Amino acid sequence: MAESARAVALRCLQRIEDEGAYANLAVPAALDATGLETRDRAFVTELVYGTTRMRRACDALVDRFVVSEPDAPTRRVLRLGAYQLAFAGVAAHAAVGETVALAPKRTRGFVNAVLRKVARIEMVWPDRATELSYPDWIVERLQRELGDEADAALRRMNLPAPVTVRDDGYTQDRASQWVAEAVGAERGERVLDLCAAPGGKSTAMAAGGAWVVAGELGAARVRLVQSNVDRLDADVDVVRADGTSPPFASGTFDRVLLDAPCSGLGALRRRPDARWRIRPEDLDDLVVLQSRLLRAAADLVRPGGLLVYSVCTLTAAESIDHPVPDGFEVVTDRPDGAWREYASGWRVLPQDDDTDGMVLIRYRRRAS
Ligand SMILES: C[S@@+](CC[C@H](N)C(=O)[O-])C[C@H]1O[C@@H](n2cnc3c(N)ncnc32)[C@H](O)[C@@H]1O
Repeated sequence: MAESARAVALRCLQRIEDEGAYANLAVPAALDATGLETRDRAFVTELVYGTTRMRRACDALVDRFVVSEPDAPTRRVLRLGAYQLAFAGVAAHAAVGETVALAPKRTRGFVNAVLRKVARIEMVWPDRATELSYPDWIVERLQRELGDEADAALRRMNLPAPVTVRDDGYTQDRASQWVAEAVGAERGERVLDLCAAPGGKSTAMAAGGAWVVAGELGAARVRLVQSNVDRLDADVDVVRADGTSPPFASGTFDRVLLDAPCSGLGALRRRPDARWRIRPEDLDDLVVLQSRLLRAAADLVRPGGLLVYSVCTLTAAESIDHPVPDGFEVVTDRPDGAWREYASGWRVLPQDDDTDGMVLIRYRRRAS
């Protein structure tokens, strides 16, 4: 008999939780190997993404009825069941019945009893981080950065991202499209995208007739950029290069985009497992890397040219706290998109216009 959607989802969860697989890779790989219909495929995605995002909340729902820690496979089935009951709107009889059947034989009775209780309780959440299902540090950090608006940002990042497709068929978040537009690449200009994979912004900038060079560090990521460039037939030269010591002469580009590696705290809805993966100390390393990339990027801009810095995070340390590069001044006119003013830059929160959260800063190199 063909494997059910819930069984496929459970296998993905096992890979994510035990093997550290990325949800956005594990799910398509599992779906490719099944004969599931479109509706069931969507259900698998929702179950895996949702259970992964809401892992902490699901555990809290279950833990009220658990005395000693269940083994990992049993815990996984309980999470999957709790997610369906509390967050996916699945009818209790189906959520419990179909999920219990996936539990190890020896714990089926236990899983059945716990899920039936979960289906009936009114949950009183112990705190915000448990209810919204984030590690404490992310909630604290975003509360510090966003104040009263942190809650709405965290809630929005628990919902799936809408699929937005460009005219050329490339799927790209709208805030990312605004960043590419803010570079303002014009026909015939030389434009560098220093950290380019998967190539969304490079290909967008090339569409207007600019000559774009896409640099990227990782070999596999370089191949990903190249395949997107080929598919879209975009005028982009793809180069494998470390952006901290790029193989280009000073001052040779009209515009440089540094879409820097970052903590991704504004784009958590896209990567359901990311919140459990990132550690607060990673931010310190990222800030150091960003500073080095920013210095290298600035050096490549010609006098009078533009440097655009962007990150899909919401923290000041990774964006507006970076000093303005020597010889540059901040560009202050409002870019297109739902940006809010944010010190020297512009920020969009996930709840503002249903995009990823992002920060954009533009610097103009003085003419001499
Ligand atoms: C935010 S992503 C870029 C997204 C891309 N601009 C787009 O819109 O499709 C940052 C990229 O920087 C790359 N990266 C990290 N360190 C780098 C370095 N030292 N030099 C160049 N690229 C680097 C990462 O592999 C990742 O692909």
